[in-house]
Amino acid sequence: MSMTDPYGRDITYLRVSVTDRCDFRCTYCMAEDMTFLPKKDLLSLEELDRLCTVFIEKGVKKLRLTGGEPLVRKNIMHLVRELSRHLKTGALEELTLTTNGSQLSRFAQELVDCGVRRINVSLDTLDPVKFREITRWGDIGRVIAGIDAAQAAGLSIKLNAVALKGFNEAEIPELMRWAHGRGMDLTVIETMPMGEIEVDRTDQYLPLSVLRADLERQFTLNDIPYKTGGPARYVEVAETGGRLGFITPMTHNFCESCNRVRITCTGTLFMCLGQEDAADLRTPLRASEGNDLLSAAIDEAIGRKPKGHDFVIDRRSKRPAVSRHMSVTGG
Ligand code: 5AD
Ligand code: SF4
Repeated sequence: MSMTDPYGRDITYLRVSVTDRCDFRCTYCMAEDMTFLPKKDLLSLEELDRLCTVFIEKGVKKLRLTGGEPLVRKNIMHLVRELSRHLKTGALEELTLTTNGSQLSRFAQELVDCGVRRINVSLDTLDPVKFREITRWGDIGRVIAGIDAAQAAGLSIKLNAVALKGFNEAEIPELMRWAHGRGMDLTVIETMPMGEIEVDRTDQYLPLSVLRADLERQFTLNDIPYKTGGPARYVEVAETGGRLGFITPMTHNFCESCNRVRITCTGTLFMCLGQEDAADLRTPLRASEGNDLLSAAIDEAIGRKPKGHDFVIDRRSKRPAVSRHMSVTGG
């Protein structure tokens, strides 16, 4: 089975936000006093498993759990363990997650036991004071301890850093040397206009073309065809021998090769990160024990996957391109 959208793109990658909650409040991601979804609206872990399983039967090969922070969802390892059965049968090629690292010390070994091989850890700075400033609530010590534990357990790690003008742009070389020195890839991401936040995104936005030109004054960056199934384009850095990825939703639109869709913890399917259109899968999921209704609702939604996003960040567009925060769909 496979799912193909109107533009001929095969949908093989599902990202599942298992909770919209997080133990951090990164300033570019959330408002400080976020209102979260009422717990009663959440899909149960069993429902999430059923939903993911239907997607896998329909051709999804790569599944990423996100949030919010996926590891703060109660009993999340139960879901990971259940989903790992699809790795054993070969139906699923990769089960992975994006985490802020705060709970990794606790869960690293169990993730490995469930067949997770690689994870993404979000880390924008190594400076403890700046880390506290950007996450509002985070403790860098715990994140580093989590990374240590994950590497000790054998997980490959890719660090994700959102490039923020005047905040971490000068530190990216150091962050990269640190990551590469520890055998981790680093990917830098352009900030996207998603959800109302307190700060002005125009002040934060750093086009990666600028960052790349800066880096090229100090490093030799060689384009390489390496791919991980996501939108990053990679270079190899001659001086460190490591890989650096660029995710450039703003300066270079990568929608033409989009292979993914996202579901939220309430069972809403978003066909595009940068569009409001969505499909409710919770109703068909709960309407019957069999999966026919659900499967039909998924087909119908994939059939109207939009061509791409229309992100803009400038002084004139005061409102975010989409009203939901990244923590709803998990990037
Ligand atoms: N733009 C770009 N990246 C964001 N993230 C959260 N909010 C935004 C935003 N508005 C990042 C997080 C994490 C990933 C899931 O998305 O830092 O790395
Ligand atoms: Fe939490 Fe990630 Fe958003 Fe930061 S970016 S508040 S760690 S979900």
